[in-house]
Amino acid sequence: MKKSLIVLILLCVAWTTGYFIESSRSSIPDGTMQQKALYVLDNAGCVLCHTKNAEPPFYAHIPIIGTLIKHDMSEGLKHFDMGGIVNDLKKGIPTNETILAKIESTVSDASMPPFQFRFVHWSATISAPERQVILDWVKSERKRLNANSGVVEKFANEPVWPIPSKLDVDARKAELGSILYHHTALSGDNTVSCATCHPLDKGGVDGLQTSTGIRKQKGDINAPTVYNATFNTRQFWDGRAGTLEEQAGMPPLNPVEMDGVSWEKIAKRLAKDTELKKEFEKVYPDGFTEKNITDAIGAFERTLITPDSPFDKYLKGDSSALTEDQIKGYELFKAAKCSTCHSGQNLGGQTFEYMGLKKSYFNDRGNVGKINDKGLLSFTQDDRDLHKFKTPTLRNVALTAPYFHDGSTASLKQAVDIMAKYQRDKKLSDKEIEQIVKFLESLTGTIDGKPLQKN
Ligand code: HEC
Ligand code: HEC
Ligand code: HEC
Repeated sequence: MKKSLIVLILLCVAWTTGYFIESSRSSIPDGTMQQKALYVLDNAGCVLCHTKNAEPPFYAHIPIIGTLIKHDMSEGLKHFDMGGIVNDLKKGIPTNETILAKIESTVSDASMPPFQFRFVHWSATISAPERQVILDWVKSERKRLNANSGVVEKFANEPVWPIPSKLDVDARKAELGSILYHHTALSGDNTVSCATCHPLDKGGVDGLQTSTGIRKQKGDINAPTVYNATFNTRQFWDGRAGTLEEQAGMPPLNPVEMDGVSWEKIAKRLAKDTELKKEFEKVYPDGFTEKNITDAIGAFERTLITPDSPFDKYLKGDSSALTEDQIKGYELFKAAKCSTCHSGQNLGGQTFEYMGLKKSYFNDRGNVGKINDKGLLSFTQDDRDLHKFKTPTLRNVALTAPYFHDGSTASLKQAVDIMAKYQRDKKLSDKEIEQIVKFLESLTGTIDGKPLQKN
């Protein structure tokens, strides 16, 4: 009895505080679509709870209410980092496709801002016209992003869309890049090439839990595929490389992977391939420098894209490209909100997400050998980024087992089950899992006109 009285008093205090904090909110100001969207997201507190540099409001210093808001802010950031959205919106540049999917999902089902926030922060509730501002903005941003994807009008506002058939690449550079990609001279003892760990006839992965580098040394994390890596906003599970070129500069000097020792030594070893040297200098007159080598490999990797998967054909208007089960699987994938992380043209690769949002994945899994579980933290050195990993692409995922950064999971069925449980707090039936897996199988694309497969 006494307890509930105290709670009641506290609620009254919170509620009246909210009353005094809020002045009546003016209507949506005139401006561009982006300016209006920013106005709504800011007023609804999304920016406060979901961006890293947000200043806590003054009432964060009031006991109880302050603790609640600070807790919500840190939980909010763990679940969803809106990243540079404020800047994007101010500058009018297109927003990341996954951020759009997340905002769309939570604004349409009115699950955000959280109830307790609306309770003290009266005007944070999103009104119907404000919801429309957000949904219109998401739709128009998507149209900007998928304009050249070939998606048909009726699918133009889907959270995922096709990849292009071809990217603009200098063919001579790509050809040299292909030779370098397969060249063991990048490694210290001429035994390891990029293709050792990313064999192109095996889905671009080595199929091992963690890779085996030079002198049989074991790495500490699973190798993602190189196919469609060009569509990731950053490279590596922790995002430490910003571009394919920057990424390609790292394994050759990594003592566990290729141990090439130095770019001078790598250049010397490559120069022994006189035929390659001659051809290389025609395109890069200053020869085998780090910049030139990684430039060529980057160009080659831009050709490693896999268009025309059955799913892409479907989105481009071929209604017979998918089976009924696959269509059902896609519907389930959206309904379970998988597409709020695995979104856009690569069905992933756009954001870093906490592994185990709804249930502790790492507690349940236990220690599995020498695996690097730090995630984004090791790149940003920001404790709030512990266990956040780049959401992997789901393109060709049927070919890239074992799954997850720890390579702990051998079957795709099991991976889907784990995702539903730990990211979504959802138990899918066997039938549902099967249908989602069938949908994921429809994401296997083509290379040189032939379906990608494991040889
Ligand atoms: C008071 C802080 C707070 C405010 C304001 C807030 N959020 Fe959240 N948000 C949270 C918390 C806490 C979670 C995690 C718990 C949950 O899902 O309820 C979360 C989760 C999310 C998620 C992840 C949901 C998922 O299922 O993966 C998204 C997306 C999101 N918020 C978007 C928004 C948007 C858009 C707004 C503005 C309309 C907003 N939030 C306002 C605190 C906040
Ligand atoms: C010894 C095995 C090994 C070798 C050799 C190797 N890689 Fe990797 N590669 C990996 C592993 C493991 C990762 C993941 C590492 C991480 O995220 O920390 C990775 C990540 C990548 C990624 C990032 C993909 C993504 O989705 O983030 C690309 C691209 C890539 N490698 C290309 C290359 C290229 C190009 C070469 C040759 C210059 C190369 N790799 C050599 C094992 C290897
Ligand atoms: C909150 C974001 C988020 C949601 C929601 C989400 N995923 Fe994931 N997904 C990830 C991240 C991050 C990883 C990598 C985790 C790791 O390696 O530890 C991943 C990995 C996967 C993988 C393994 C891919 C690989 O190459 O290793 C599959 C398959 C997958 N997700 C499917 C799904 C399905 C199906 C759903 C819906 C039930 C879903 N995901 C929901 C973020 C998400």
